[in-house]
Amino acid sequence: MRRLEVMAGAPPAAVQLLLLSCCVRAAAGYPFNTPLDLDATPRITVPSSGIQVCKRFQSAAVDCSTMLLETGGERLYVGARGAVFALNASDISAESPLTIAWAASPEQKRQCLLKGKDNETECFNHIRFLQRFNATHLYMCGTHAFSPLCAYIEEERFVMSSQPEEGRDKCPYGPTTGYTGLIIDQQMYTAAQYEFRSFPDIRRNSPPPILKTEDAPTRWLNEADFVGSALVRESLGSSTGDDDKIYYFFTERSHEQPTTSSHSRVARVARVCKGDRGGRLTLQKRWTSFLKARLMCSLPEYDFHFNVLRSVFVMPGQTPQDTLFYGIFGLEWKNVKASAVCRFSLVEVQEAFQGPYMEKQDSDSEWKEYTGKIPEPRPGTCITDSLRARDINVSTSLPDDVLDFVRRHPLMSQQVQALDRRPLLFRRTTEYTRMAVHRTQGLDEYLYHVLYMGTDEGWLHKAVEVEGRLHIIEELQLFKDQQPVTNILISPNQSSVYVSSPSGLAQLPFSSCRRYASCYDCIFSRDPHCGWNGAQCVDVAAHKDRSALIQDVQKGSRGCENAQADVALRSRSVRVGDDVLLQCELASNLATPLWTRDGAEVQGYGLDSGFRIGTDALLIIEARRNRSGLYTCHAVENDIRVAVISYNVTIHLDPPPPPPVEPGHDPYSLVDAPPRPTERPQPQPVAPLLPRSELLSPRDMEAMYLSVITILGGLCVVLTVVLIYVGACLRAGDRGKYSLRTAAAACTRKSSRSRSQHRNSAHLELKTVSSHCNGNGVCNRGSKRHRSSGQDGGFLQIVPGEGHSTSNKESPPPAPPLPPTPQLPSPERDLPNGLSATLPSVLRRMNGNSYVLLRQSDSGNSSPLCHSFAEELNRILEKRKRTQLLPRPDESSV
Ligand SMILES: *[C@@H]1O[C@H](CO)[C@@H](O)[C@H](O)[C@H]1NC(C)=O
Ligand SMILES: *[C@@H]1O[C@H](CO)[C@@H](O)[C@H](O)[C@H]1NC(C)=O
Ligand SMILES: *[C@@H]1O[C@H](CO)[C@@H](O)[C@H](O)[C@H]1NC(C)=O
Ligand SMILES: *[C@@H]1O[C@H](CO)[C@@H](O)[C@H](O)[C@H]1NC(C)=O
Repeated sequence: MRRLEVMAGAPPAAVQLLLLSCCVRAAAGYPFNTPLDLDATPRITVPSSGIQVCKRFQSAAVDCSTMLLETGGERLYVGARGAVFALNASDISAESPLTIAWAASPEQKRQCLLKGKDNETECFNHIRFLQRFNATHLYMCGTHAFSPLCAYIEEERFVMSSQPEEGRDKCPYGPTTGYTGLIIDQQMYTAAQYEFRSFPDIRRNSPPPILKTEDAPTRWLNEADFVGSALVRESLGSSTGDDDKIYYFFTERSHEQPTTSSHSRVARVARVCKGDRGGRLTLQKRWTSFLKARLMCSLPEYDFHFNVLRSVFVMPGQTPQDTLFYGIFGLEWKNVKASAVCRFSLVEVQEAFQGPYMEKQDSDSEWKEYTGKIPEPRPGTCITDSLRARDINVSTSLPDDVLDFVRRHPLMSQQVQALDRRPLLFRRTTEYTRMAVHRTQGLDEYLYHVLYMGTDEGWLHKAVEVEGRLHIIEELQLFKDQQPVTNILISPNQSSVYVSSPSGLAQLPFSSCRRYASCYDCIFSRDPHCGWNGAQCVDVAAHKDRSALIQDVQKGSRGCENAQADVALRSRSVRVGDDVLLQCELASNLATPLWTRDGAEVQGYGLDSGFRIGTDALLIIEARRNRSGLYTCHAVENDIRVAVISYNVTIHLDPPPPPPVEPGHDPYSLVDAPPRPTERPQPQPVAPLLPRSELLSPRDMEAMYLSVITILGGLCVVLTVVLIYVGACLRAGDRGKYSLRTAAAACTRKSSRSRSQHRNSAHLELKTVSSHCNGNGVCNRGSKRHRSSGQDGGFLQIVPGEGHSTSNKESPPPAPPLPPTPQLPSPERDLPNGLSATLPSVLRRMNGNSYVLLRQSDSGNSSPLCHSFAEELNRILEKRKRTQLLPRPDESSV
């Protein structure tokens, strides 16, 4: 197990190659052609402070990950650590819920410690199973400090109705062991690796005979990690007298591929028949109907496979045949975050089970498709009418040769491909842990599938599927502390989503339509729960007269043509030569900004345009008088331009004298400024040979750019070498957990470190100018904007001033004239040049004019994976320019 983790820790050559080729291409300035145009960005990001309508279950109990809520049920049953609760499903925050305390006894804990288990995690009673047993009773199992027990609950009074009974065969020993269980017709079907060293097993525990999976001569399950199971009542309306089936979903070690393959794990679906009674001589007390097949979730164009199944949701259809399986898949390398959502149809799973079998001749040979004769009746099938006609009424009557074939051929050759042969969604930097799907009717009468997906960091993504693609409506930070979402449950009756994490349980309404302030905002959201009623964005379910509502889930663009919206107008008055920052906060991560001046579009491109357009601001550089005018920021989304804010900018010649600045008072560090080496950077003399850039003659400029190009060329080579080197380091697998994006950042960071030993890597974090980026972890979220901004082709970034990051060898430019200090900065107050007093939390490291402006390439499909590399190059370029291109040899150690 340990060794496996180490192996899994090494990032795959494929990912490194992807990364490397991408970065090399970035260096060469080519547009990116990555598989990543599937990558979806959540339209809006709501940090925990912005979530208003959320009820939480307050309790000392932790790990509320087992939940049970039945259709029409008013109680939400929650199994936690050491207790079970019956909560009011319409309001889980209601006080004094019914509780059954069921903790492991001190004696049991002592035994657990003696077994060498962790008293912080394993020596508790974690409720792992909680389901209805019959009309009056529930059944539950707990790990009970590494010695599982099960017990009945009398539902009405909510008390344990009997002494707990042995649970060793029904419940895993640990709180995190992959496990799934069902009670069907009072029979318990579970799957797990039960004891510590046992093989994984799919069992029917009661009533006798207990059925299990086979271990010899062919092991049917190979280190299987179960994520889910489901009953599909295929007997209903079956013309062949088919049986009901139970489907299991898991990830296991692959048999069919050589162990040297980069894919050591595969996602699987297996099934057994409900009526199975085992064999008589062969396969006695073993399933006679066990078959399994591989689930494929991949980007076929890139031969990129998601091999680890993390969560599955079974969506029932009109008939059993219409059942759909949604799965969340990830990569098997633990230090690379990425997720894909794939959808499978039951019909294709059935086809795989009807197809050819795989076979392994002997222990040394590889698995190959079996081409020999298949015995009759077909091995692994349920008892159907045609078998009954041959007097085979139960599985014990099956012929020995059939059962022997079943024993040796558990695996099908055909793989189950995702519908449309590609994922519905692909995310590079997110690790989804759980998912639930809800079907709801839009105003256009379509039935939309709405997916709720929890991440490993406590966020919830809500997405709607439109024509085989997922549009992520929003991402919500449900849990402030980073922790994985462990379970999600949907209740159409309560119009609620219940989300659990190790520390708590939250209840959310299906939608928060009031969040959308304008008609366009409402339809851009494409939330099938929301519609615009002419004045507000409202929940369509709560609205009687649906015909008056506007909604456009399909395209997210139609219906608001006549809507009126007020645009805020502000004034800016600055002096010639100032840099003016006009803020424009776009609520949507999918919107791109478009600026106009007196109606004409502002071009933020080109070195001498005098403008830089960021995702959330326009910068007028060294304003000239003819730059005055009415500037309007528009949000462009779904090809529609919506005005957001206007600025009346006046640029005049004679500035009012700036008020004196108190010594030591830095107007930019109004909010929790980070510790600095000195109170303020010492202005350092500029080398006289190297005048400031604005004093350069065109000749000098020419020379300057020539040297920039030369240096850049050199840098490209050096950085490529560094990247290859870093790639090799990564392969060594000594890294902790980081995402693809940060992997790229790490590689660039490394290379920059080799240039300057004195750089503090924390100061190298690039940030957009965004109020989302408030420096407490939400920043990472804000950085998603990089992604969307890739489409508009430019953004502004401000990086730490030279004073923080340079050694004495690099001379920073002289400290700039300080902007006037507001006497008492109020949050609403704007500084004359547009740096609002709320900004310093973001700009606090800006430190005068020693910031660096970056502009992205215009390629629409550029990859965030590589942004940081391009950013780094840009940064170097800009920095060199600002430091007047000191002709020093590169300090790279390579
Ligand atoms: C559950 O909560 C709702 C709303 O707070 C309340 O109306 C209802 O009576 C509660 N149900 C029970 C069983 O307490
Ligand atoms: C676990 O054991 C350690 C030392 O043996 C002790 O300090 C700690 O409090 C224990 N934790 C719990 C939750 O019992
Ligand atoms: C449900 O099962 C429990 C436990 O076996 C039993 O005591 C109870 O009588 C059953 N109830 C019904 C309605 O069958
Ligand atoms: C199988 O079931 C059929 C009808 O259900 C019955 O007529 C037949 O006798 C049974 N055969 C055996 C061997 O039990």
